Amino acid sequence: MKLPTRVRLIDVGPRDGLQNEKQPVPAAIKIELVHRLQAAGLKEIEVTSYVSPKWVPQMADNHDVMAGITRLTGVAYSVLTPNLKGFESAVLDQPDEIVVFGAASEAFSQKNINCSIAESIERFAPVVEAALAKGIAVRGAMSCTVGCPYEGDIAPERVAYLAKLMADIGVRRVDVADTIGVGTPRRVQAAIEATLQHFSIDAVSGHFHDTYGQALSNTLAALEMGVWNFQSSVSGLGGCPYAKGATGNVATEDVVYLLHGMGIETGIDLDALVDAGAYISEQLGRPSGSRVARALLAKRAG
Ligand code: HMG
Ligand code: MG
Repeated sequence: MKLPTRVRLIDVGPRDGLQNEKQPVPAAIKIELVHRLQAAGLKEIEVTSYVSPKWVPQMADNHDVMAGITRLTGVAYSVLTPNLKGFESAVLDQPDEIVVFGAASEAFSQKNINCSIAESIERFAPVVEAALAKGIAVRGAMSCTVGCPYEGDIAPERVAYLAKLMADIGVRRVDVADTIGVGTPRRVQAAIEATLQHFSIDAVSGHFHDTYGQALSNTLAALEMGVWNFQSSVSGLGGCPYAKGATGNVATEDVVYLLHGMGIETGIDLDALVDAGAYISEQLGRPSGSRVARALLAKRAG
């Protein structure tokens, strides 16, 4: 067991967290959320996606959101780009990193991005090449690495297969995502182990949804393997439009509390993060999905 001493968190709340909201969330609120996250010490923020507005209407304001952010030096702003059309659009807004997103499950690939895994890689390859040529970092999200809403359990071999395809086209780091939050520690470790056949530990991040309440346990299991990059979403916002019933990512507040409690540095101010979460929860008109935020807010009120 080799626990890292420092962890880097990517808050995906503005993108993964808000993409599934039924009511349009004004760009000004998304911008304010990004500002509050960076003020709390987040060094990586996944801001938006350049996908079809017919498929994901909530992200149609991608340009407005990116243009409205006051950027801080030392903070990396990433965006999702599924194809060259999305990339060409994204590049106008100068993201620090683009994310191509594939799936270890064929059925999920079809539902989410309307093509097979092999076709998705053909679409990603020129995107990755163009991004690297422009000096833009590239991340690959790998969905359904443990389970799929359509196919059920996903074998680690299929994760290794996708990881290899991602590595072959020049993707620099990957997210091992439990999109529907069905994973348990040993299964998540197997998915990470499979990814490590093609990426170093420094290039692997954990992206765990909390549908079954396992995300913190899975985070600890990944930490025990030496993983030190994680995605989470403030207030536990989120869900994927193509994974019905899946809840949000593990809440950033909960991960920070866990890490700080274990003496692992994040550079994040938990109180300021709780404020950011309280802000977006209030805007959405519902309580925070973070247990830690609810506990700390109750303590403050008392
Ligand atoms: P398609 O229909 O196969 O694409 O969609 P197409 O090339 O045939 O084009 C059809 C129409 O879409 C055309 O417009 C294109 O111009 C337009 P029309 O002529 O009909 O008016 N189009 C686009 N518009 C804007 N931006 C683009 C773009 N590309 C084509 N980039 C596509 C393929 C991928 C675009 C579509 O399937 C799509 O947008 N899917 C949504 C995917 C998505 O955002 N999913 C949620 C994010 S993934 C996720 O949350 C998981 C993750 O968090 C990790 C995890 O938890 O697992 C990352
Ligand atoms: Mg996700």
